[in-house]
Amino acid sequence: MTDSLTVRDNRTGAEYDIPITDGTIRAADLGQIKTADDQPGLATYDPGFVNTASCRSSVTYIDGEKGILEYRGYPIEQLAENSTFLEVAYLLIYGELPSKEQYDKWVHEITYHTYVHENVKSFMQGFRYDAHPMGMLMASTGALSTFYPEASNIADPDNRHIQIVRMIAKMPTLGAWAFRHAQGKPYIYPDNELNYTENFLSMLFKMSEHRYEADPRLARALDVLFILHADHEQNCSTNAVRSVGSSQVDPYSAVGAGIGALFGPLHGGANEAVLRMLRRIGSKDNIPDFIAGVKDGNERLMGFGHRVYKNYDPRAKIIKKACDDVFEVTGVNPLLEIAQELEKIALEDEYFVKRKLYPNVDFYSGLIYEAFQFPPEMFTVLFAIGRTPGWLAQWQELIGDKDQKIARPKQIYTGDRGLTFTPREERWA
Ligand code: CMC
Repeated sequence: MTDSLTVRDNRTGAEYDIPITDGTIRAADLGQIKTADDQPGLATYDPGFVNTASCRSSVTYIDGEKGILEYRGYPIEQLAENSTFLEVAYLLIYGELPSKEQYDKWVHEITYHTYVHENVKSFMQGFRYDAHPMGMLMASTGALSTFYPEASNIADPDNRHIQIVRMIAKMPTLGAWAFRHAQGKPYIYPDNELNYTENFLSMLFKMSEHRYEADPRLARALDVLFILHADHEQNCSTNAVRSVGSSQVDPYSAVGAGIGALFGPLHGGANEAVLRMLRRIGSKDNIPDFIAGVKDGNERLMGFGHRVYKNYDPRAKIIKKACDDVFEVTGVNPLLEIAQELEKIALEDEYFVKRKLYPNVDFYSGLIYEAFQFPPEMFTVLFAIGRTPGWLAQWQELIGDKDQKIARPKQIYTGDRGLTFTPREERWA
């Protein structure tokens, strides 16, 4: 067997041998296929990159058919069970699990970079009272580049490290302040005696008490949710970070772009849609009618189906289990019963089985977030905090990848050519 593809161009009768490496051909190799020397070479048309690899990556592995998700080779189930979010962040960014010394230093560094410049607070206070927290997070993350202008020196690994630490450390501060802003409550400063998620919960919910003590079961559940969201290879927001980062801009600007991509309902917003759907169904008795409506094509079963997973999303299994821990503290969300029954019925129904539609990460996550008393606008902010190490790991990989160039896709031009401009006086006469 030869690892190459023979292409015959029926326009000219010419044949070409194109090497196959790692199950792909290089799109640039198609450029040699031309009808004449002065004609453009053959290109591929792939809106949404549905069958185009944009990079080589060793960060995250997904096998959608089998329902496998691994960070740097470690199965997500083991990480969620045994690791912490900051350890997973180190793993994603530096490629290996930290030694005790490395871990302690990493946690210390992140803990002591949680504060932001006071002027960040002032400009966040300038947002309208009803500003969406994702808009606030996106703007304030991008604005951090103005506080750390040296961040643009992306070629220096030490400089990259400190910006990575800063961003992971400050994201919960910015996210919590965006939350407090909408409630008209004072912004709470970080408490560096607390761990990452405890500190985040304190900045979200502390009032007049001396120290906010989160229930450890809730803090751990949130830590696990962050682990589950930490990376997911070349999704829309990661692609945005890489695409913007390919211009060699600083990482705050690149991650700001990623937050913008995540803001969109097709990416980060499905768990909110699940809650709306469950509320609309209202009781278990209404499920058969709802399922019939889905099968008739009138609506979608939100939180089911995935572009990549054609099996149970491994993150959904872990979240389902985390529901039990959270509801033990907060009391059961009445929508859980409807969700569980809906899942049971759908998994046995031929329509869903035939199309390989299983619960995805969003099916249960909204229920948990609601139990924490987060309003739906905050769900994507939580996603962004969890995804930050993944964005940064992918950005760092991009910077070190000699194959990478500035992202600059081709287009198929469909407009007019060579028109003659008519001055306004003539056109409007
Ligand atoms: N409910 C009912 N039917 C569905 C659903 C669903 N949730 N998802 C897919 N289908 C059907 C679809 O109608 C189509 O049927 P047919 O072949 O008869 O036309 C078939 O399954 C294939 O669907 P598709 O739209 O071609 O699949 P896709 O890969 O383009 O879409 C998806 C993936 C996630 C957008 C889609 O499954 C969906 O809309 N799900 C609901 C929204 C949701 O839960 N989104 C969160 C995704 S996970 C978040 C993340 O990882 O970032």
